[in-house]
Amino acid sequence: MSITALEKAIEIAGGQSALGRLIDRDQKAIWAWINTTQKVPAEDVLKIEEAVDKQVTRHELRPDIYPKIAPLEKMRVRKSGELKGTIKISGAKNAALKHMCASLLTDAPLILKNMPVGLQDVKTLSQALTHLGVKVDLDKDNNVATFHAAEITSHIAPYDLVRKMRASVLVLGPLLARHGKAEVSLPGGCALGARPIDLHIKGLEAMGAIIELEGGYVKATAPEGGLQGAEITFPLVSVGATENIMMAATLANGVTTLLNAAQEPEIVDQGNALIAMGAKISGLGTSQIKIEGVKKLHGATHSVIADRIETGTYMCAVGLCGGELRLQNTRTDFLKALITPLTEAGMDIIQEEDDVIVRRNGATLKGVDIMTEAYPGFATDLQAQFMTMLTLCDGAGMISETIFENRFMHVPELCRMGADITIRGNSGIIRGVKTLKGAEVMATDLRASVAMVLAGLVAEGETIINRIYHLDRGYENIVEKLTAVGADIERIRD
Ligand code: EPZ
Repeated sequence: MSITALEKAIEIAGGQSALGRLIDRDQKAIWAWINTTQKVPAEDVLKIEEAVDKQVTRHELRPDIYPKIAPLEKMRVRKSGELKGTIKISGAKNAALKHMCASLLTDAPLILKNMPVGLQDVKTLSQALTHLGVKVDLDKDNNVATFHAAEITSHIAPYDLVRKMRASVLVLGPLLARHGKAEVSLPGGCALGARPIDLHIKGLEAMGAIIELEGGYVKATAPEGGLQGAEITFPLVSVGATENIMMAATLANGVTTLLNAAQEPEIVDQGNALIAMGAKISGLGTSQIKIEGVKKLHGATHSVIADRIETGTYMCAVGLCGGELRLQNTRTDFLKALITPLTEAGMDIIQEEDDVIVRRNGATLKGVDIMTEAYPGFATDLQAQFMTMLTLCDGAGMISETIFENRFMHVPELCRMGADITIRGNSGIIRGVKTLKGAEVMATDLRASVAMVLAGLVAEGETIINRIYHLDRGYENIVEKLTAVGADIERIRD
């Protein structure tokens, strides 16, 4: 946090007490932000920015949570009425990125079908992989991508590439397993909090890797003769650590057992792709995964699992706007923790072969409570969308976030649009209001951005969303998909 920026705001306001009055805080709170390690909370940052007429910006006050805005594109969303029609769900971003990293494990091509080729994250990771020597071919027309790591020409994933996308840390395990060494920049904190990678590092160390942290880099070397199988118990469930170690273990000597492993469908998908490449893995989808190392993996063709978070996002959109959508090429079985409260709130969700029908006719949704948890619990990646849906509910709902420490960044923005949300610690009470009002809003991460889009669809008037590059990281063709079902949404330039 920048004390200088806060001092400037105090000076403009005419002193600590004056600023306190403007943002509805007592002077002691402001004193603490200046003199202790306490940081200005996100919602107060926005109030200060408004109180001093943007002479001090949110970016200057808390660059850690409000990074500098990329200029260029914004999104305009207008109140749209009910959603009706068909949306084709893309392949899962959070599976696709891991498959891409797994391509480093073999010198033969890995061909991925149902690939969300249009996503910015896929392009960014492709750049990082190209830097390591992988030949990348992205066929957007057919949603097919090929990754061919015939030779690894560099084992270094530099800061500039990792900082754009944390998932690039997933090259660590595969590089170490195949190439014997890897240097990967530490991703650092992000909008969701500190997000350490200690479990990835401890897991690889348990397999014999020598790991040093130097100059912001994780420098890892495999022992003579390669990584060794090990029994690894994760102290907490981590999607990324499970994936990184599972990939590394496919080429290790002997058996690796992962206990308290993550069970996400994307991990099962990754395991299946690795099996198609010749890996020996059992226990996928349970908390105990066993990997028997093999000497070499070969190429394979794999179809990426449907994106359950994109599916769930459009389900919440129907919950909020009403209407009926046919979501093609997706499933309900991997979204039980979302579908149960949606049904309880008053929606109908039916699987019809490879499509899912989502419906809310008439009555306003009832308020319901959820708590985010590791799979099969409620996905943290759907929390912001679900909360947005509850803003117009009948009654109230409570949401507890247990996975990430800083995942209520959408709340101040929703409140500026008229939502009634009170946060206490890691929980929020959402009291339903009659209507939201359009505003100029900003979001700090992918799922918070899409929450703004959903809010814009029901808000009176017009909502302008800044920093939409977040959306393009993870929602393929979102404007086209929503427009086709009746949404009034467009990209605009500054
Ligand atoms: C994956 O992140 C997803 N990202 C996230 O989706 C998702 O929110 C998250 O899993 C949880 O489901 C990708 O798949 C690319 P974790 P990941 O390791 O792997 C702590 C989105 O919007 N932890 O399961 O980084 C960590 O801080 C993104 O698509 C450690 O303490 O998540 C967090 O509190 C955002 N040490 C918890 O574990 C570690 O070494 C779960 O994180 C690793 C994690």
